Amino acid sequence: MQCQLVYSMTPVPSSTASQPNTLGIIAPLQVTKMAASMVEKLMEKKAVTYTAAVVGVCATTYLIYKKIGGDTGFRTSITKLGNTGSLAREDFAAGIDAYNEFFQQSDGKGVGERKFNTPKFVDTFYSLITDFYEYGWGQSFHFAPRDKGESFDESIWRHEERIADQIKAGAGMHILDAGCGVGGPMRTIAKHSGANVTGITINEYQVGRCTEENKKAGLDTLCNIVQGSFLEMPFPANSFDGCYCIEAACHAPVLAELYKEIFKVLKPGAHFASYEWLTTPLYDSNNAEHVRIVDDIAEGNALPDVRSIPAALAAAKEAGFEVVFHGDYALGADIPWEQAMKTARRAAFLTDVLTKWMERFGLAPRGTWATHQMLLRAAEALERSGDLGIFTPMYLVTLRKPM
Ligand SMILES: C[S@@+](CC[C@H](N)C(=O)[O-])C[C@H]1O[C@@H](n2cnc3c(N)ncnc32)[C@H](O)[C@@H]1O
Ligand SMILES: *[C@@H]1O[C@H](CO)[C@@H](O)[C@H](O)[C@H]1NC(C)=O
Repeated sequence: MQCQLVYSMTPVPSSTASQPNTLGIIAPLQVTKMAASMVEKLMEKKAVTYTAAVVGVCATTYLIYKKIGGDTGFRTSITKLGNTGSLAREDFAAGIDAYNEFFQQSDGKGVGERKFNTPKFVDTFYSLITDFYEYGWGQSFHFAPRDKGESFDESIWRHEERIADQIKAGAGMHILDAGCGVGGPMRTIAKHSGANVTGITINEYQVGRCTEENKKAGLDTLCNIVQGSFLEMPFPANSFDGCYCIEAACHAPVLAELYKEIFKVLKPGAHFASYEWLTTPLYDSNNAEHVRIVDDIAEGNALPDVRSIPAALAAAKEAGFEVVFHGDYALGADIPWEQAMKTARRAAFLTDVLTKWMERFGLAPRGTWATHQMLLRAAEALERSGDLGIFTPMYLVTLRKPM
């Protein structure tokens, strides 16, 4: 079945009040005076004034942040900002430097032949940004179209349940989540379908976070996670009743190679569905702004390049799949996917100030601010791409391994 919707440009839019003195020795007034002079003395000490100012600024920032961050602002504790994923604290700065150097893209053609080193840098990327994502977005690292009257979380869950339904996930089935992040989708899908879900991620830190959250949700019997590359699946052939991939196939250096690996581990007749990051027919490779936006999306999200819809369908066929359905869920949404990114980025402006200062005071490792800057550039490019309609992070392809 073909997507029925048509692409079009949418201009998206203290009181020092005295305690009763039980002994009656010191009059209330004296207590007040003593307290006031103590505070004065304390304030003479620079360190105290300084600390009071920092605490004040942080508290105010926090309140503003909560207010303007809306649905997506500040979802975990601020202390998470000082975490370093699976990188040693002192390796964090080198991590972001190496990352930025590797993903330098400037002609819309991706990283070229260097693409085969991508998995290593994708791993670095997720060590750098997993906490930021959890902090500013939640446990599901993907976008979703949103209906009027629906909350951000509800839209995320609906998007996850849709992909589970596409592969007909149900109780007793064994499903693979290729590129599972910290497992937000896996938990939704196990609850929704009753299926046993195994996730794979290249990033060790995500394995720890996911395991923790699976236990917390009481889903550790149905949900499992392994560390490894989906380009070399550590599973026997013909072992899964279905597979889904949410905004993760975009990290594969060669899409057909990933699809072939998934094809291999699926049982004959089983379905595979993926939300792909692709350019749309509105993308014009001769338009300098389009090219810059797509390069920025790739650089800020650890992508070797950004592929087109026909390229993704060709990869599916090359791997041996039958195409059951394909279409773009970015089209026709009440609230477009990039809207949440805009809200998150407003809040991220303050995170930017925070990370800069936390880094200066040694509360966050060196490189934290640079990492956040990289994410801000990515966010801006994603928003713009959505407004122009030249890119989609939710082109759904549903495929089937022939009997
Ligand atoms: C944008 S996140 C999406 C995560 C998850 N699907 C979700 O929606 O929350 C992309 C995920 O793909 C994983 N990934 C990228 N390249 C991989 C590879 N070669 N092998 C396994 N996982 C990979 C990353 O570790 C990350 O967890
Ligand atoms: C789910 O699958 C894993 C991996 O095969 C297995 O260890 C676990 O026991 C299964 N859980 C259930 C509830 O079937």
